[in-house]
Amino acid sequence: MKSAMSASRISTLHLPPYSNSLISNLELPDDHSLRGSHDVLVRDDWEGLRLAFDVRSIRENFPILQRKVYGKPLVYLDNAATTQKPQQVIDAITRYYTEQNANVHRGVHHLSEKATHEYECVRCKVRQYINAAEDREVIFVRGATEGINLIAHCFGGQVVGSGDEVLISAMEHHSNIVPWQLLCQQRGASLKVIPIDDDGEILLDEYEKLLTTRTKLVSVTHVSNALGTVNPIGKMVEMAHRHGIPVVIDGAQGAPHMQIDVQAVDCEFYVFSAHKIYGPTGIGIVYGKEALLESMPPYQSGGDMISAVTFEKTIFNRLPYKFEAGTPNIAGTVGLGAAIDYVSNIGVEQIAAYEQSLLNYATDAVAAIDRLRIIGTASEKASVLSFVLEGAHPHDIGTILDQEGVAIRAGHHCAQPVMQRFGIPATARASFAFYNTREEVDTMVRAINKVGEVFA
Ligand SMILES: Cc1ncc(COP(=O)(O)O)c(C=O)c1O
Repeated sequence: MKSAMSASRISTLHLPPYSNSLISNLELPDDHSLRGSHDVLVRDDWEGLRLAFDVRSIRENFPILQRKVYGKPLVYLDNAATTQKPQQVIDAITRYYTEQNANVHRGVHHLSEKATHEYECVRCKVRQYINAAEDREVIFVRGATEGINLIAHCFGGQVVGSGDEVLISAMEHHSNIVPWQLLCQQRGASLKVIPIDDDGEILLDEYEKLLTTRTKLVSVTHVSNALGTVNPIGKMVEMAHRHGIPVVIDGAQGAPHMQIDVQAVDCEFYVFSAHKIYGPTGIGIVYGKEALLESMPPYQSGGDMISAVTFEKTIFNRLPYKFEAGTPNIAGTVGLGAAIDYVSNIGVEQIAAYEQSLLNYATDAVAAIDRLRIIGTASEKASVLSFVLEGAHPHDIGTILDQEGVAIRAGHHCAQPVMQRFGIPATARASFAFYNTREEVDTMVRAINKVGEVFA
């Protein structure tokens, strides 16, 4: 596997002005230098990262990481399922309910105005986080799953007809398969699948062949939750656009781990869930290009998504409200805003570099374990380490690791076709966040070795 952390490479990390609270341990060695007040030049190896990235203070922000499981310190390595929440997010939600609770977009009173202001501020934060052009291109939904359903229903319903094709990849989460399958069934269209190779990489040549005049839409994951593969979404969008085909990106596993720039990628839609990016459950976003959102019918109907109603006719509200029927998850949105602030304070580039280094370390460590096979060995990976151990079912691995306080996931990870592709029923999956440490990886490796002894 390609190591992103070559000892000789030097990189410049651009830190936001308010990041210093988390980057407290800047005792830089001789070959490190400070450039200006916010640019820190660090050697791109573990020591440099360790110095610039103060994981110990970061961990103190996550109350749950201080707890024990079966008397052992919790080692939480199930971050692809959901991430833990920093105190800042918990506090923001508590503060909202304690000091500010009111419905949005409705009242003229003080609290309602404050709640509306905060709700809309979060939309702006999301816009900045993914570099969308306009706030109104950000729609709040329940999560990535609802986001894809919204796109399939409202956009897919318009562009996919009888005899047409929708193209997805062989590494999709069920959330990016089933909505398209249903759409195709309803429309008399076909679902086509871009194959992947034994490393878990998309076969771009095959992808090119599948882009035809019948293809009305491509929907692919940014990062595979089962394999960790980071797909070349910019290139894939460019290839689809050459045929005039719009592209949806499932960013559920992308947004937490890397810089997102929807304008640079030029995708038509991007979705993610707040709970995988240190925010609360029940909230997520759909980014959509304004012209497409304008042309789409509403998803659900009711209050807030209208500008005028008579018994004869309804005039829909402007973007983004057209897609936000009913009272939204205001507290969840506030929590998402706090999560984005938190992640931005650390710096997405730093998070990516630290997590990449941790993944490389974990990959090398588990690769040395007897009878263990890593599933997903793409050259570009993020956060996820899936594996099988000869003689032990992944559920047994998960159960024994749990007894050691190590939380991983075992199963098909809502990606059954991936399991079929690799001819296995399930994998054990460790998935990392920026609060995980090498010591935790070592604990996991010791626990896997125990599994090996039990099932020898
Ligand atoms: C790649 C991918 N897409 C979509 C989803 C669905 O996310 P949610 O359950 O938050 O809607 C997940 C969740 O694990 C995922 O990993």
